Order: sequence, then structure tokens, then C-alpha cells
Amino acid sequence: MKVDGVAYRSIWRDPSETTVTVVDQTLLPHRFDTLKLMNVADAIDAIKRMVVRGAPLIGVTGAYGYAMALRDDPSDANVDAAFDAINAARPTAVNLRWALEIMRQEVRDLAPDDRAVAAYVTADRLRAEDIETNGAIAEQGARLVREIYEANGRSRPVNILTHCNTGWIACVDWGTALGVVYRAHDDGIPVHVWVDETRPRNQGASLTTWELGSHGVPHTLIVDNAGGHLMQHGQVDICLVGADRVTASGDACNKIGTYLKALAAKDNHVPFYVVLPGSTIDWGMQDGVAEIEIEERASDEVTHISGVAGDGSIVKVRLAPKGTKVGNPAFDVTPARLVTGLVTERGVAPASREGLRALYPEKG
Ligand code: MRU
Repeated sequence: MKVDGVAYRSIWRDPSETTVTVVDQTLLPHRFDTLKLMNVADAIDAIKRMVVRGAPLIGVTGAYGYAMALRDDPSDANVDAAFDAINAARPTAVNLRWALEIMRQEVRDLAPDDRAVAAYVTADRLRAEDIETNGAIAEQGARLVREIYEANGRSRPVNILTHCNTGWIACVDWGTALGVVYRAHDDGIPVHVWVDETRPRNQGASLTTWELGSHGVPHTLIVDNAGGHLMQHGQVDICLVGADRVTASGDACNKIGTYLKALAAKDNHVPFYVVLPGSTIDWGMQDGVAEIEIEERASDEVTHISGVAGDGSIVKVRLAPKGTKVGNPAFDVTPARLVTGLVTERGVAPASREGLRALYPEKG
């Protein structure tokens, strides 16, 4: 995707270097800046502070972090120690563990001196595959949007409600739910996106609006609580959200607030689709509500808010009284029964064990 006419991806590596560069998402939309990750500690810090965020991008960043760890210490002990350290950076998005498992598998049986080169090759491959996968997801999902457009007699734009940020900045390129939007828009289907602000970190207000604006997609920012009202009044044709972990039975864990949108969608007969790559499926889990670890983040994400001051500086101000007790679960789980379908790179499946197995038969 382009920023001020320049083509960017969210993470990249100069082949002659062993460091990687990322877009610093903590500064957007006020400032576009990049950050060089020099070593594994930088990669872990970037994931924890959400300089990089979004399930697919966390996975690719973790893969490069692992390569940098083996560059600096390719010992047998570090093959597991680096895995554990990176995997602990954020607990909910399974893409991190997925990427690290592939990385470890590739290097484990190699001689220590050969591990770093193999790790970089694998991380570069995961990065390239992410772009390809998201392109395929976008194509699958755009068909749904087109169907709605046709069903409405091509009379008006398709109104899409989305939550959090699932765009190119959350992946390497394209995005998941937002990738579908880009593809539909680029294919000439008129769309309009309702963007949830996504408290507390406001990924919708800060990142999704910035992305959609840069790409010329019509959109309107709404507070998180407005979605149900809009659905009651027929102003939402389809909900498209991403996921951080989907269980083998189709329960979908995503940014906090997604579950409430799914409830409102069900009550108002609005189709609710979860858009994800196969790497987001945790085949070892069945019951998302009971089994998925929900990340609890720092209280100042709730008590404070960041924005740009009159002089252009980015400032953080307090909203709540000092010392207010805070709960900050970062994700919730939408049970499969509330999900109309799962949009993947291999097609659209019912949110069920059978639906997922039909798309990924190799998973048994
Ligand atoms: O806490 P975040 O910003 O990393 O959460 C991101 C989300 O919840 C996204 O919806 C999800 O990762 C899908 S991204 C393509």
C-alpha cells in the first residue's frame, strides 16, 4: 500500500542486512516513521509496546526476532530459549506461536553455524507468504461484498462495519477484513465503512481511518457503542472483523468489543464474517471462551488517551481520576454460533469444526 505515493509494507529487510525495519504504529496517524529492530530484544519490545501489532504482523516480526536471536547465539539452548522469550511477548494471537514453531522446526536439526542463515530464509518466506495469503483472502471476501451489492440492485454502496485495525499495517500487506474492503473497492464495488474507534487503544480511530483515507475508501468513524444502533436502522449490510485466534470449532477471538458487535448483528440479521488466514486457527483448541488466554494490558491504556496537541506534539492525557481501579482485557471471544462464516485464503467456511476441516483437510 502507498503512503504519500510511496509503496510500503509494514516490515522489511534489506537482503544485505540482518536487521529489519517496521512502521512505528504508536505514532500513527499523527506521524509516519519507521523503526529499525537491531536484535531480538528490539523485536520483543516492539511487539509488547505495539509498535507492531495485528496477529499476522506479530507472527512475522516474531520470526525475524527469532532469526536475529540465532544470529547472535545459535546454540542448542537458544533454539528453545529464544522461542519462549518471543512467544511470551503477547499471549493471545496464535500467529506468533505458529510462526515460531515453523522457525524452530527449520533450524533445530541444523549445525549451530547454519542456523541463522536458514532462519532468515524462513522468515523472508513467511513474510512473502503473508502477502500472498492476504491477497487470496481479499479475493474470497470481495465476492461476499459483490453479492450484497448485486442483491441491493447495485443501487447504493455496501455498508461494512469493522472493528479494530485489520489492514495492511496489521499484516505485511493487504490486511484481512480490511483487505477484503480494499479488494472490493479496487474492483469497483462502491463501499462505505463504519469504523469502530476501538477503545482503549483506538486502533480504529487512529489506524483504520488513516489506512482507508490513504486508499480513498469512503468511511465514517463511530464510537464503539454506535454499531448496534446502526444495525437496528438498516445501516449495516455486513460486519467484517479479523481474528487473533480461531478455535478448531470456529470460535473467534478478536479485539475486545467484537463479541458485542456479533450479538447486535445476530439480533438484527446482519451477516457477521470473521476474516483470517489459516495461521490464525488453533487446531488444538475447541472452546474459545474457556481455553483462550486473554491478554490483560496496562491500566493507563484505559485511564489515559494519546493525541496530537496544537503544536503538533503527541501527548498523553488522563481521563479518569488518579488511582481509579482498571480492568483492561484486550480481546474477547465470539462463539461460533454468532459467526455467519469464516473467510480464509481457501474459501468461506461455516464457523464449525466440519466447515474448517473441509477447507483444511490436512489438519485431520
Ligand atoms: O491488540 P491488537 O491491535 O494487536 O489487536 C489486533 C486485532 O484484534 C485484529 O483484529 C486482529 O489481529 C486481526 S488483524 C489482521
